This record gives sequence, C-alpha cells and structure tokens, in this order.
Amino acid sequence: MENLEFITVTLNPAIDQTIFVEDLTPGAVHRAKDSHRQAGGKGINVATMLSLYGKSVAVTGFLGASNPSIFSKHFKEYGLRDEFIRVGGETRTGIKIVDTNSSETTDINLLGPSPLETQQRDLVDRIQKIAKPGMWVVLAGSLPKNVKPEYMRTLIKAVHSAGSLVAVDSSGEALATAIDAGADLVKPNVDELSEYLGEDLTEFSSAVAAAKNLHREKIPNLVVSLGGQGALFLTPDAELMAGAPKVKVISTVGAGDSMLAGVLAGISQKSSPADCARLATVFAWSRLQMLQPYLPGKDVIQRQMAQIPIQPLNRSVRSTSVQRISDPNRN
Ligand SMILES: Nc1ncnc2c1ncn2[C@@H]1O[C@H](COP(=O)(O)OP(=O)(O)OP(=O)(O)O)[C@@H](O)[C@H]1O
Ligand SMILES: [Mg+2]
Repeated sequence: MENLEFITVTLNPAIDQTIFVEDLTPGAVHRAKDSHRQAGGKGINVATMLSLYGKSVAVTGFLGASNPSIFSKHFKEYGLRDEFIRVGGETRTGIKIVDTNSSETTDINLLGPSPLETQQRDLVDRIQKIAKPGMWVVLAGSLPKNVKPEYMRTLIKAVHSAGSLVAVDSSGEALATAIDAGADLVKPNVDELSEYLGEDLTEFSSAVAAAKNLHREKIPNLVVSLGGQGALFLTPDAELMAGAPKVKVISTVGAGDSMLAGVLAGISQKSSPADCARLATVFAWSRLQMLQPYLPGKDVIQRQMAQIPIQPLNRSVRSTSVQRISDPNRN
C-alpha cells in the first residue's frame, strides 16, 4: 500500500447543492436556471486539495449508507483513500439558493445521520489503525447532532497515542474542546476566533494581539484567516502575516479549507514558515477563482508564491478594521 501522508476526518459531511434562481420569492414556484451538486464537507475539501498537490491522503468520518455514490465518485476522481465509517441514513445536503438578480444566497442546511456510540468507537479504532507517527490528522467541520464536543478530545487522544499530529478547523464548542485537548495546529477565521475568546476582534491590532496570546499560551501552530485581508501564521519559529492574493473573486467558499491544506503541505515538506504561509495563500487563491477543486502546476504555484507579501508580526503592522468581504456564495 502506498505511503499514506495525511488523514482527514469529516464527522458531518454534506452534499453541497447550489441552485440558481432569478428572483427568490417565498411561496412562489421557481424554475431553476442552473444547479450543481458536489461532495462536500471541510475534511473532504482539505483532502482534495492535498491530493491535487500530489499527497497521499485517506478520508474518514461518518458517511450515510443510503446515498454514498456522489462521494465514492469524488474519492475516485481525486485519488482519496476511503476509510469512512458507514452509518444508517443519508448524508445531509446543504442547499444554497443563489438569487441571480440580487446576488444574495439563502442557505438551508438539512440534518445528517446520527452515528451510534459503537460507530463513534469504530471511527476511533479506524484512525488509530491507519495513523502513523509524524503524520498529520485533520479534524474539520461541525459535529453531527448526537456527537458531543468531548468526542473531539477522544479523537485527539487517539491521534496523539499513534504519534500523529492534529490539525483542527472547527467552531463553537468543538473548537474550544479541541484547543483544550492540545490540538497541534488550529485554523480559525477571525469570526471563529472572536467567538472562542468572547472578544471583539474587529480591529486588526486586536486580532493580532489575541492570536499572539493564544499561540503563546495554548496553540503551537495557529493560522488565523482574515478573508480578503490575508492571514496570520504563528508557528514555534515565526509570527507572520501573509497578504491576500489580489484577484477577482468568484467564490470564497472553501478558501479557508484550502488554506489549511496548503499550510499542512508546506509543514510536511519542511518549508520555511514564510514559504508555508505563501503556499497556504496560493492554495486559497486557487479556490477563489474556481467553483471546482483546482490547483495549478508547481511552476505556477512557485510564481504565485513570489507574489504573496509576507510581513513579520513583531513589526508594527498597519492597523485597520478586519472586514469580511461579503460574497454571494459564502455560507
Ligand atoms: N475576498 C478575498 N479576497 C482575496 N483573498 C481572499 C478573500 N477571501 C479569502 N481570501 C483568501 O483565503 C484565505 C482564507 O479565507 P477565509 O478567511 O475567508 O477562510 P474561512 O472563513 O475559513 O473560509 P471557509 O471556512 O469558507 O473555507 C484568506 O486568508 C485569504 O488569503
Ligand atoms: Mg473556515
């Protein structure tokens, strides 16, 4: 079997369904102008980007047994090793209705299946069986409705006992539990960080100060993404800010997931902290301009990396407001 480099865990995957209608009106009948469906879920998104970069990745978590085909097709297309635990019922669908007149998006997130306690234990066993020392295991996305936040701690313990490292991209109680349980790398966006700390981080300087504190106290590798303003990268060796790519944005959906894949790719190939930040930003860049998962060839990646401005955080960084640029397709 090929040498596995990463495992991503998606506890609550979803089929992303985007429907375009001309003028969304409650109570009216609409004819869709266009629609597309795609296998989704944060861990699967991270895995797909890593695989496009040439890494060998296994995907796991809980997948509904009744509608697996869109996922099987995706795993095959992107060369992902399927280690998902099948659970009764259907994987949920996340519906995005894009009103093409107003460019507004309405989200309807359906409920997914509830993994049983035995299935939750099966997942821990599965991860322990395939995780190897030094490998990164990514825990990403929300929790299914009957899975308790403490399950994050159980997973992190299992990963650490296999000698692997844990990266987390989640929010709310799941994120808080993961930080408390000793996640090795965490990638919140500024809103998730603000919610976790219970602090207003609208000022750029407060976001930087909060990130520095949290990094020093609890999280060895912290990436805070600031949407159109770039991202903060705090590692044991450096504290940096990477500017955002200056490009025409088609959709920011999944940009953060892609950024996480890029930073892990950089760390695993032992790039310098600045190059990890550049690579992470280039991974995000490739998502901003495509609705499908995409990564350019290595020569283009190199050229794009050279365009990403990097600044140390210890110098006085310009103080502005952190503003999330609104995007019709963002969830
Ligand atoms: N509007 C934008 N313009 C330029 N770059 C952007 C924009 N939005 C995001 N990016 C790039 O993508 C990175 C990650 O974006 P963001 O902070 O929106 O992640 P996120 O909120 O975790 O996204 P998601 O969870 O939907 O994947 C940013 O640090 C930046 O490099
Ligand atoms: Mg995110």
